[in-house]
Amino acid sequence: MEAIAIALSNAVDLKHREKREKRYLEIVGRYDRDIVETFPKILAEVVSALEAEPGDVLGTVYGELELHNVARGQFFTPYILCQTMAQAIIGSRESLLELIERNGFVSAMEPACGAGSLIIALAEAMRQEGVNYQQHLHVTAIDIDTRAVHMAYVQFTLMHIPAVVVVGNSLSMEMRDHWYTPAHILGGWSARLSRRDAEAAAQRLLNPPATPETAFEPADPRRADTTGTPRQLSLF
Ligand SMILES: C[S@@+](CC[C@H](N)C(=O)[O-])C[C@H]1O[C@@H](n2cnc3c(N)ncnc32)[C@H](O)[C@@H]1O
Repeated sequence: MEAIAIALSNAVDLKHREKREKRYLEIVGRYDRDIVETFPKILAEVVSALEAEPGDVLGTVYGELELHNVARGQFFTPYILCQTMAQAIIGSRESLLELIERNGFVSAMEPACGAGSLIIALAEAMRQEGVNYQQHLHVTAIDIDTRAVHMAYVQFTLMHIPAVVVVGNSLSMEMRDHWYTPAHILGGWSARLSRRDAEAAAQRLLNPPATPETAFEPADPRRADTTGTPRQLSLF
């Protein structure tokens, strides 16, 4: 998964390319040629599976092969449940469109993304509501486990979801590595997000909230609780 993630990332992410290319050569150097030749075949299988029916293809295989880390609570939610949760998070089509109207897009924060099943379900739910998630959704997804990040990155990339997938701890907020999907980079999302944040800051200066002590500390859904489990997927 890491080799596949690097191959996809290196097509677009110049900032991380050199370091990741070295790592790629290290990985492929570890295996015999016949094994390395299965990597593109695996990618082709994932592409076919996602084309046939969007879902958490890699998370399902990961669970079935019992590769998950039980100690880290790595139990992935069955996709059918993710679909129901995504519908509940979106609410009505009207509330989704209202949220999009404000900035041109909605942001989703997934603090414990696993292989990305909830985000895949969310993107699909938006598509079913007639909203092009490739234009109107931006995702920040975090997982403490590098393997989960690579799986989520590969699946988001293949679905062309604008996203940054982060290797990090959403409780302590220590972040170690950032994976920007091609949809994020090609869609100029860093600039779009900065513009949205700058506009929000300007709005707060022009219209400060009633209580002065909270004026510069708006409720930030991206800020995780520092105790207990990471917060659940949220839209803002
Ligand atoms: C129960 S799984 C849920 C994954 C996904 N949201 C789903 O519903 O299928 C929990 C995930 O949280 C990750 N995790 C656990 N503690 C974490 C932390 N402090 N910060 C970020 N991710 C964490 C695990 O590695 C695992 O992939």
